[in-house]
Amino acid sequence: MTIKEAIRERHSVRQYQDRPLDEDARAALESLISKCDQESGLHIQLICGDPDCFDSFMAHYGKFKNVRSYIALVGSDSLIDMEEKCGYFGQRIVLEAQCMGLNTCWVAGTFSRSKCKAELSGDERLVCVIAVGYGEDQGSRHRSKPFGKLCSVPEPEMPGWFRSGMIGAMMAPTALNQQKFFVELVGDEAMITAKKGFLTKLDLGIVKYNFEAASGHKCL
Ligand SMILES: Cc1cc2nc3c(=O)[nH]c(=O)nc-3n(C[C@H](O)[C@H](O)[C@H](O)COP(=O)(O)O)c2cc1C
Repeated sequence: MTIKEAIRERHSVRQYQDRPLDEDARAALESLISKCDQESGLHIQLICGDPDCFDSFMAHYGKFKNVRSYIALVGSDSLIDMEEKCGYFGQRIVLEAQCMGLNTCWVAGTFSRSKCKAELSGDERLVCVIAVGYGEDQGSRHRSKPFGKLCSVPEPEMPGWFRSGMIGAMMAPTALNQQKFFVELVGDEAMITAKKGFLTKLDLGIVKYNFEAASGHKCL
């Protein structure tokens, strides 16, 4: 599976098989996470074999089942655009995980922060987690706002690469599927901004990663 296929195939999965991550998948995720940490300055961690983080009222309310492995997105606020970086690098990991046959779900609310096993050093904080494992199914496609609500360029006038990027952005996961982002064409480049609201900076990083991977063009 290519990254572009992974963008299309990925949907949030909340119910997992009772099966630990294969050794190869675990090693590949660990190696990707350490690359992402080096590039970003974040302290992303893979935690396996922990049933507690998703054993809470909120997690059951959120219909999570058999989550034993998760990726904790941790960073220090002294890092510029820390939340956006969590979104960007987290989505890179999510799409690679999809290519390895794993399923995922971004989770900022319906898990137990106090039971999460992530290590926080100095002024670091836990931004959110990503549940990871072998899904009971592949999830389903979310509803998207139309082009006109998400970008300034009328659809018939979009360059091909921009249209591909927009489709990738529309397929990106956002908190509560809120899609509070806006894409503009500035000269020959795309600029994506976050609207005001809950977790929109984290969403922005996720959307930027999808846009860039789908279009092959870096965003401003
Ligand atoms: C930053 C962020 C936080 C999220 N938090 C939660 C959560 O706490 N609980 C949950 O069940 N889903 C959560 N989600 C999953 C979204 O509801 C889901 O991505 C969105 O509805 C789009 O669906 P899709 O991921 O299947 O494309 C979160 C997603 C993002 C991006």
